[in-house]
Amino acid sequence: MCGIIGAVLCEGGAGALVDTLGEGLRRLEYRGYDSAGMALVGGDKTIRRARRPGRVRELEQDLGALREGDARTGIAHTRWATHGAPSEANAHPHICNGAVAVVCNGIVENHEELRRAQTEAGFRFTSQTDTEVVAHEICAQVQDGRDLLGAVQAAAAKLKGAYAIGAVAAGEPGRLVGARRGSPLIVGIADGGALIVSDVPALLHVTRDYLVLEEGDVVDIVDGAFTVYDAAGSEVQRELRKSGGDSGAVELGNYRHYMEKEIFEQGRAVADTLEGRLSGGHILEEMFGAGSGALFDRVKFVKCIACGTSFYAAMVARHWFESCGVPCDVEIASEFRYRRHTVPDGALVVAVSQSGETIDTLEALRHARRIGYRDALCICNVAESSLVRESDFVLLTHAGREIGVASTKAFTTQLTALLLLVIALGRRAALAAAAESELVAELRALPTAVARALELNAAVAAVARRFADKRHALYLGRGAHYPVALEGALKLKEISYIHAEAYPAGELKHGPLALVDNDMPVVAVAPNNELLVKIKSNIQEVRARGGQLLVFTAEGAGIRGGDGVTVVEVPSVGDAVSPIVFTVPLQLLAYHVATIKGTDIDKPRNLAKAVTVE
Ligand code: M6R
Repeated sequence: MCGIIGAVLCEGGAGALVDTLGEGLRRLEYRGYDSAGMALVGGDKTIRRARRPGRVRELEQDLGALREGDARTGIAHTRWATHGAPSEANAHPHICNGAVAVVCNGIVENHEELRRAQTEAGFRFTSQTDTEVVAHEICAQVQDGRDLLGAVQAAAAKLKGAYAIGAVAAGEPGRLVGARRGSPLIVGIADGGALIVSDVPALLHVTRDYLVLEEGDVVDIVDGAFTVYDAAGSEVQRELRKSGGDSGAVELGNYRHYMEKEIFEQGRAVADTLEGRLSGGHILEEMFGAGSGALFDRVKFVKCIACGTSFYAAMVARHWFESCGVPCDVEIASEFRYRRHTVPDGALVVAVSQSGETIDTLEALRHARRIGYRDALCICNVAESSLVRESDFVLLTHAGREIGVASTKAFTTQLTALLLLVIALGRRAALAAAAESELVAELRALPTAVARALELNAAVAAVARRFADKRHALYLGRGAHYPVALEGALKLKEISYIHAEAYPAGELKHGPLALVDNDMPVVAVAPNNELLVKIKSNIQEVRARGGQLLVFTAEGAGIRGGDGVTVVEVPSVGDAVSPIVFTVPLQLLAYHVATIKGTDIDKPRNLAKAVTVE
């Protein structure tokens, strides 16, 4: 999704500035975007700009002209289209009257009203974006005699919505002003310069020192020195932080795509998520941090909020929580954030997110606090994310950076982390010590089981050919494996563009069975548990209507292949971790179908890695 980088560099000239901003754009690419641009302010008090739809590498062809001259201040942006198609005209930075250039993340909700007023005031619009009004508003303030800082502060006061802004002015060549409300903005502090970025990894090629702007903050960077003001305009100090993040690019190695690499990293990722968190037949509660014991003692109900794949992980966890005697409810964050309800005593809100920057999840967490949830815990993969900063307790998944837009190792590590949380709360409810030991034993065996599931790669690649020319697919699962079916269908949709829907298998005869014919592939997730006999019946219902079945079942479950039924046997594991192991072949299936179709697997159309707008 949209990304911002801006910098004032006191040394190195325009070439170094273009390199710094360009590398920042490349580091923001993983978020997903469809156009990119850059603008520099020269010592001659002019703004020069390059922007175009497509990839950063295409923009690089236009950056030569910007390298000439003595510019030391610039802003750059990757845009994920919301208002207006991906086009050069809609790409940021937006320039107003040659005087002000602006990049903006988020959505300005009152843009129509501002556009009307600005049009009447004589401003001319050249884009369909909601953010061009920001450039005009700041420009109007500059025309009224304000300096850039005053202009951004005055303009920000008129904006509604969630946004982060970077602005430069032709008349102030050494100055860069940033502002945030709702969307993150980070200030990087380097020798001889300062930066603004929307995401910590985008500054690690320059510095590890940074601070996070708080809601309503404005940062004024002049010749590399910076001052932060709060929403009331008072100068404030924000905590200086040092990033421990990996500053290098993630290498693809011998893999064709990051998604493939990330699928095959799952044995290691799960092992890393468990590292130092188990002891004998127990979990070590220290992993949750100081005060977590007292928190867990008072928890009587768990509310999970999440989006997409993370939501499906929480759906699996609900089965685990409830089987340990911990009442649990799971809700899509974008729905929860607008819903009022009575908060039960002892409620803990658990936000699950790979990126920790998903705006719906962040806003749902803030909403939870407003309506009375006293305690918030997050399960997250990015230590330096907004979600981690805003949560009282944090359990990090140690998946490592996930680049592919389609989440894979994030999901299996989220499930691993959630099972640790289930044990921590369950041992205070109905989970006996012996049962805890069994769960811990299952967790210890998990990395090996995942590695064995990955050995199904060739078998899954062979069956994937049958899906490549299909337009639709159905996925079936029951119990804790129904969310696994949902996740499998989401993977297929995202990267192969085949319409796939998952149903609880028992629901099939209540409608979706009408879709089944010999052109409808049906994927069934059939572990060897107490629901096996039920799903076997559901498989027969499909087969009786000519449906072509691909059944992922456990070794020894007794489901045999034959006419219209292909069986792939998944390694036999304990009941609790079974959803994690069954996920692996479904990821492989989606991956192989997409490679046959030749789609852009790591950056599927229309999608973004971090969804930072509503
Ligand atoms: O970073 P998050 O886990 O909060 O992201 C939530 C969803 O946007 C994400 O899982 C999305 O559904 C993925 N593209 C799924 O592969």
